[in-house]
Amino acid sequence: MAPTGELPPGPRAPSAWQSFAWQTRPIPYLERCRARYGKTFTLDFLGIDPFVMMSRPGDIKAIFTAPPDVLHSGEGSAVLLPVVGPNSILLLDEDRHLAQRKLMLPAFHGEKMEALRGVVTDVARSEVDGWTTGAAVPLHPYMQGLTLEVILRAIFGLDRGARLERLRKLVGEMTRFAMSPISLIPPLQRLGRLLPPVGAFLAARERADEEIQGLIDERRADPADRDDVLSLLLLARHEDGAPMSNTELRDELMTLLVAGHETTATELSWAFERLLRHPEALDRLVAEVDAGEDAYVTAAIRETLRRRPVLSIAGPRRVVSEIEVGGRTYGPGCHLVPNAYLVHHDAEIYPEPYAFRPERYLDEDPGTYTWIPFGGGRRRCLGASFAMLEMDIVLRAVLSRMEVRIGGDGHLEANRRRMITVVPARGAEAVLSQRGRAPVPA
Ligand code: HEM
Repeated sequence: MAPTGELPPGPRAPSAWQSFAWQTRPIPYLERCRARYGKTFTLDFLGIDPFVMMSRPGDIKAIFTAPPDVLHSGEGSAVLLPVVGPNSILLLDEDRHLAQRKLMLPAFHGEKMEALRGVVTDVARSEVDGWTTGAAVPLHPYMQGLTLEVILRAIFGLDRGARLERLRKLVGEMTRFAMSPISLIPPLQRLGRLLPPVGAFLAARERADEEIQGLIDERRADPADRDDVLSLLLLARHEDGAPMSNTELRDELMTLLVAGHETTATELSWAFERLLRHPEALDRLVAEVDAGEDAYVTAAIRETLRRRPVLSIAGPRRVVSEIEVGGRTYGPGCHLVPNAYLVHHDAEIYPEPYAFRPERYLDEDPGTYTWIPFGGGRRRCLGASFAMLEMDIVLRAVLSRMEVRIGGDGHLEANRRRMITVVPARGAEAVLSQRGRAPVPA
């Protein structure tokens, strides 16, 4: 029985080298390994059980549908503990995971998301109106500002005002820490306030906690009929009828912020990076936006998620007890990893997989095990409908107000790793101009 010795073949370079390649050049490294070892191969990283990368749809299905006590995802997110707290759905497995997921799922149903359309549109329009025109700018920082504002308004349910301003600032300070390498090294975190960046993070977290607790107390005291996710979570009940505690609510709000902010901002940046390099797709998209049509907008978003999945892998599943996948039996001591990038670029599934062609999705919906930018099974992204809605609204807000042209030298933007995400190397450079006016040269 796998693991050691019997895992599918993979590079034999030292694990330090493999970790370096995976951190610095994830996409070319995946491509190289597939060319050499095939659709399933094993990568060996420093200090963690091997990752068996899987990209056959049947194998991905086996992973997504495995029983919860056979594969665990939660432990792999333990580095997020200081930010999201111990009750976070991201960190849990088995019964405790299922219990949190049941509490949260209703708030993310399609029709609940639709109710948020107004507030997201409002945020998107006012953000876009504040963007610089006439000079080449990276869109990524704009998208980060926009998606943060969307989460604070639509998920936390904050109205414009002092509390929103304070939380935006505190979240910025916490995210800076979460994005620094120190956050990945738990022993350094344990130095606590002795290490200035950790001290600054802890201070920001304390103040953010106070703000969030204040917000929750206010909402409990005045449970008005509202559409934001916090208000819906306040109505959720555990199986014994108890409401979610303040700590649970706080941890899940921080989880939604961590999971939904950077991911959506980066995917939106990729959408523009890709569209700008495919003028025929961009022109068609603008025409469909102007005509108020939906199909091509959705298709362009799906194709962006296929071509540039911001998380190139779904959450690694640690094998807890024996499981058979693709004719091989795996036991404890390794991770099984559904590889989104590789299955999205498999020529047997997608003809011309490297072409950016939204038309693929005009007549066909994406496959459950061949299009996995949101992962799958019981760990599938809880915010997938929300992310799709937000991307749709932002694309429309930008394209209906702005003409968007390629910025910088126009060369393709390489994939660059930023913690666990893969971002466009120059932040999706573009030149914006108000529609109907001639663009000012950069
Ligand atoms: C384009 C944007 C996004 C992408 C590409 C994305 C992708 C993912 C992926 C790949 C996973 C892991 C799934 C697995 O391992 O099977 C995940 C989990 C999750 N995502 Fe997203 N996500 C996005 C936006 C969001 C948003 C907007 C929210 C919430 C507001 C959100 C909340 C979550 C949560 C709570 C989980 C954990 C689910 C669980 O463990 O049960 N995500 N996401």
